[in-house]
Amino acid sequence: IEGSIATAGQAVAGSAAALGWFDLSTLKEPYRLEGKKTIGLELAEQLEWSTPDLLIYPTGGGTGLLGIAKAYEELRAMRWLGSPLPRFVAVQAEGCAPVVRAWLEKAATTTPWEHPVTHAAGLRVPAPFAGRQILEVLRATNGTAIAVSEAAIAAAQCLLARLEGVWAAPEAAAAVSALGVSHVQRSSRARTTPPWLHYAEHYASSWLVAVGRVPTTGHPEPAGARGGTERGGPPSSPACLDRQGLLSLRARGFAGQEPQVAGDPRSAVAPAGDHISMTGQARDEGAPVATPTAPHPVLRKYYTGEHDRQPFVTALFDGAARYYDRVCQVGSLGSGRFYRRWVLARSGLAGGMKLLDVATGTGQVARAALPVLPEPGAVIGLDPSGGMLREARKSLSVPLVQGRVEELPFGDDRFDFLTMGYALRHVADLGVAFGECRRVLKPGGRLLLLEISRPSSAVGSWLIRVYFQRVLPLVMRLSTGSVQPELLMKYYWDTIAECVPPDTILEVLRRSGFVAVERRVRGGLLSEYVGLKPAR
Ligand SMILES: C[S@@+](CC[C@H](N)C(=O)[O-])C[C@H]1O[C@@H](n2cnc3c(N)ncnc32)[C@H](O)[C@@H]1O
Repeated sequence: IEGSIATAGQAVAGSAAALGWFDLSTLKEPYRLEGKKTIGLELAEQLEWSTPDLLIYPTGGGTGLLGIAKAYEELRAMRWLGSPLPRFVAVQAEGCAPVVRAWLEKAATTTPWEHPVTHAAGLRVPAPFAGRQILEVLRATNGTAIAVSEAAIAAAQCLLARLEGVWAAPEAAAAVSALGVSHVQRSSRARTTPPWLHYAEHYASSWLVAVGRVPTTGHPEPAGARGGTERGGPPSSPACLDRQGLLSLRARGFAGQEPQVAGDPRSAVAPAGDHISMTGQARDEGAPVATPTAPHPVLRKYYTGEHDRQPFVTALFDGAARYYDRVCQVGSLGSGRFYRRWVLARSGLAGGMKLLDVATGTGQVARAALPVLPEPGAVIGLDPSGGMLREARKSLSVPLVQGRVEELPFGDDRFDFLTMGYALRHVADLGVAFGECRRVLKPGGRLLLLEISRPSSAVGSWLIRVYFQRVLPLVMRLSTGSVQPELLMKYYWDTIAECVPPDTILEVLRRSGFVAVERRVRGGLLSEYVGLKPAR
């Protein structure tokens, strides 16, 4: 069809009904908006259930911008997000900017843009169907709309190619080019450093570390990353920055920090021989390397070897999930809830902290923390078992993430407090698990592990064994009619009986870099292991 996407849309609208076609035009069907919510959900998850200051979105039809806003609103309604919505910035091309024009004119909705011209096809939408809704989001979030030139878009493509090795679509590059626009910089909550400088620094350093470039002076120039400029990209554009470019921009009046130099801990210039990881993260220098320590030997009665231990454990908890709370209640004679609250308070959990509950299961520890940490997003639960998480979701309004302690999907230094209740017997390697806990804790952050230990006296041990192996399984079979909780209880006892001694756990905690490590024992049965990540 000759003309723009709007002309095509009109043609479809005019004939779809007559032809019996389903009109898939932007926002004329509900599904794409729901799909675009994924961007908002992923952003929320990757920012650990908080929102960014600014959200800069290349806006054509605007489904993505509206989808992200919808995702954030829904997460807030679920109390998974506490922070306010970010300021939304709609970025359009100067040659087709109906939203920007309406924004500047303070109009309620957009009017069609005549003669739309831009290389960014996704932004060549002269009459966005949801113009009114896009403007409403911008107003509600104290956002803005800006237009960027074709040259700025091309320059930003060049920046991305140079710093990240990605030849981005012009629409994505438009968002990057908007980072240099001064009123976007001003509207950032972080006022000290312009966001584009953070961006450039961050990508320059992680990319260089990832490819193993560890130069000692000046701005490193990774092989193959210069093609864009050398082959005629716009070399003098502010967006095509090298280190000199960053400095010269600063000299030309862009306020901000000095680009990083050697010696700065965040520097792109890592010392020779520094550890290079595939993820681009340098190894945590304070974390000693541990030798593997399994919490117990392979239990062949249940699984054949280490390779199928975790699948067995996850399936076990999946199967027993719906009975788990009842098992706990019966097993602890009703004291479990009270005990978890009490132990959290005794271990220093206080308002304003951010807590990660690893192996959250049905959320018993997370739930016990909520009276102290009621703010949305202050408590996050993690567990590998989908069944346990499903149970948790029925009555717990905190972000719940599927994952294992051995590979926590969080950045470094994020949490004030980390709990892991009755799960250290289920991990593959205590050292790896504790190392991960240490990594995600902030300096000075606190670890609390709850565990059931085999009583030291022979009589106590015999009594507990009979309780776990005979009494509880029988009570659970009679009350639930299912063999799942019975199997769980038997496995529970076997892992308790075979677990490495408490001294080994304390020793691995210390080896993993925790200080002030200690074990408190209650009633000869309940162990609380605590430790601190050293303050810097
Ligand atoms: C006995 S439940 C504890 C639940 C909860 N913490 C509590 O206090 O009731 C043990 C939990 O550990 C989880 N788990 C097993 N392997 C794990 C791993 N590698 N990383 C994290 N959690 C794990 C299980 O899925 C299960 O939900």
